[in-house]
Amino acid sequence: MTVAVLGAGKIGEALLSGLLDAGHDAGDLLFTERHPERAAELTDRYGVAGVEVAEAAKRADVLVVAVKPQDIEPLLDELAGLIGPGSLVVSMCAGLPTSLFERRLPAGTPVIRVMPNTPMLVGAAMSAVSPGKHATDEQLQTVERLLSSVGKVVVLPESQQDAVTALSGSGPAYFFYLVEAMIDAGILLGLPRAVAQQLIVQAAVGAGTMLEEGGEHPVMLRENVTSPGGTTINGIRELEKHGVRAALLDAIESARDRSVELGKAHEE
Ligand SMILES: NC(=O)c1ccc[n+]([C@@H]2O[C@H](COP(=O)([O-])OP(=O)(O)OC[C@H]3O[C@@H](n4cnc5c(N)ncnc54)[C@H](OP(=O)(O)O)[C@@H]3O)[C@@H](O)[C@H]2O)c1
Repeated sequence: MTVAVLGAGKIGEALLSGLLDAGHDAGDLLFTERHPERAAELTDRYGVAGVEVAEAAKRADVLVVAVKPQDIEPLLDELAGLIGPGSLVVSMCAGLPTSLFERRLPAGTPVIRVMPNTPMLVGAAMSAVSPGKHATDEQLQTVERLLSSVGKVVVLPESQQDAVTALSGSGPAYFFYLVEAMIDAGILLGLPRAVAQQLIVQAAVGAGTMLEEGGEHPVMLRENVTSPGGTTINGIRELEKHGVRAALLDAIESARDRSVELGKAHEE
């Protein structure tokens, strides 16, 4: 099976890199890019061929669209004249509904919407997958198999994709932001930056592993660190005082709203 990534930016590169790490052959992968220097850089790094969209459409069984939502229109115009009956289109574009692709590509083109995230780069993606109206169960399984090689996969109704985009698509950025702020706190307390970074990164990795492997609820895990009269509860009081929980609820709701807005921009 040949997979072509249309738009090998951050997420497209993460997919190529993750698929190669998972044992996919570089000869079975293709990508398209607008800038020749970027294409050359990717080919040097991964040994994957950069091609024109027309060649990708001709050779690939699966076309993964990974351009920014704002760049979708010209790509759809180009693809409309190129897509063959055997092609499966997978969109990773935030906010864009499968109906947009179905409307603009040849009638009956199977489309599957995916919201991945950048931990794909290290084989730890969370991808949520929703089939469009022409995608078969077999095609859905093909995409699930492909993405399972670079992380975890859930199949969800497309109506939940804007929420998924806000939660797990953007989620890594919120964790990076927290880690960044906690490193700053270490600096404030006089620790060398490298030490602060090592301490917080390992705390994050350890907490992530406990969340994933221990099966305990996050509330229990936090309570286990929060002894009566101890240090952690003082910190929690400050987090509550500053409304950090409410800020996270607002932040993720706002990201969801932006995903909805990106989709609306392409409505007829
Ligand atoms: N980054 C994330 O964490 C993340 C997570 C989940 C989903 N996504 C989705 O993934 C998509 C890509 O996001 P990104 O962060 O990877 O953006 P990005 O780094 O800007 O990557 C998009 C790439 O596509 C290229 N491109 C644009 N139009 C093209 C065309 N017609 N033909 C070939 N290449 C084209 C762009 O080139 P230029 O440099 O010329 O613009 C750029 O290299 C978005 O729709 C986003 O919603 C991203």
